[in-house]
Amino acid sequence: MTSESRLTSLQTNEILNSAGGVVRSCTENATAGVENGVFYHDPVMLHGCLQGLRLESDSELNKSGEILADGTFADCTLGGGGHSYAIATRLSAAGTLHAFDRDDDAVKFATKRLANVAPKFVVHPVPFAELGNEISADTLDGVLYDLGISSHQVDDSARGFTFVGNNPLDLRMDRREDVSAQEWLRTVSADDLAAALRKNADMDRAFKLATRIVEIAAATAKEGREILPSDIKDAVEAVFPDKRRDANSLMARVFQAVRMEVNGELRQIEVSIRSAVDCLKVGGRLVVMSYHSVEDRCVKDVCAEFEKACICPEHLPVCMCGGNHQRLKKVNRKPILPTEQEIAINSRARSAKLRVYERV
Ligand SMILES: C[S@@+](CC[C@H](N)C(=O)[O-])C[C@H]1O[C@@H](n2cnc3c(N)ncnc32)[C@H](O)[C@@H]1O
Repeated sequence: MTSESRLTSLQTNEILNSAGGVVRSCTENATAGVENGVFYHDPVMLHGCLQGLRLESDSELNKSGEILADGTFADCTLGGGGHSYAIATRLSAAGTLHAFDRDDDAVKFATKRLANVAPKFVVHPVPFAELGNEISADTLDGVLYDLGISSHQVDDSARGFTFVGNNPLDLRMDRREDVSAQEWLRTVSADDLAAALRKNADMDRAFKLATRIVEIAAATAKEGREILPSDIKDAVEAVFPDKRRDANSLMARVFQAVRMEVNGELRQIEVSIRSAVDCLKVGGRLVVMSYHSVEDRCVKDVCAEFEKACICPEHLPVCMCGGNHQRLKKVNRKPILPTEQEIAINSRARSAKLRVYERV
């Protein structure tokens, strides 16, 4: 990553001006995810995240009540900038916010939205697995991950993330990447697709479904046309003819499994969290929100490695490593869930789980 691909607050203002110049005041309302009348994404569990990062007090997550207004933070999933905006408005001019997103739409939208915030704001338009190459070790007070995709990515049917409507499957967060979902489905074997369906979406009848999808992908290529959600639906209905199985939920799981492969999502999480542990100062916070069990398991497993004091192989009868390797401790024993009230307002919150760790 070169310094040219980083956008500072100054460049942010230049983009704004060349785009017709929208100068907005920094009001809390801006966290609602609307810019120029365009809705992007409602931030989930906003206050829990801010408390976890020690940018708000009065909670189990910030018992000391300390507010790190001059701190340095990274939002690894900028999206519509909802969390970033709220972080930025709690930081002083001495603070710094780094923000990552691999989706160009998100970078453009959120860059405009955060143009006039007080702290230094640096956008890194790259995958968050690059965190360790972009940020120096022992410098961050907090890192935030709001995993998955934004409402905008789903709502914009031309992005090919949704099976509502019938746009060709794409599912790439970064459209500069070579391989879209349909290209991947035309090259993957039934075995590998079945493994992805099981691993990323806990699907049963995975091999049968994978075989059917691979056949359909080949047939559409022969016909010289794109793979459409209706093709995937045909495969799902053929393999799950039982009307009691909810076709939409099956489709959502197939899309999730394919999306996670196309974007290398679990690998990104693993690499990035490892780097986050290095980038955090002692006492710094790692705040992660996940939306399904596969993501959550990945977060838990990577963090569990850093919670161990002893890293000796299990067969050793006595500890030989010194027993001082612990680098993370849990701040909340059990993941924090959204309130019923938040779910009623923002249905995207319904499956969210918030985990907070502290660097030791
Ligand atoms: C759930 S949205 C974040 C929404 C944001 N917190 C807000 O309040 O508007 C997730 C965002 O993370 C981005 N993202 C997901 N995985 C990524 C990765 N590996 N590297 C960089 N960005 C990623 C997606 O493109 C998407 O914009």
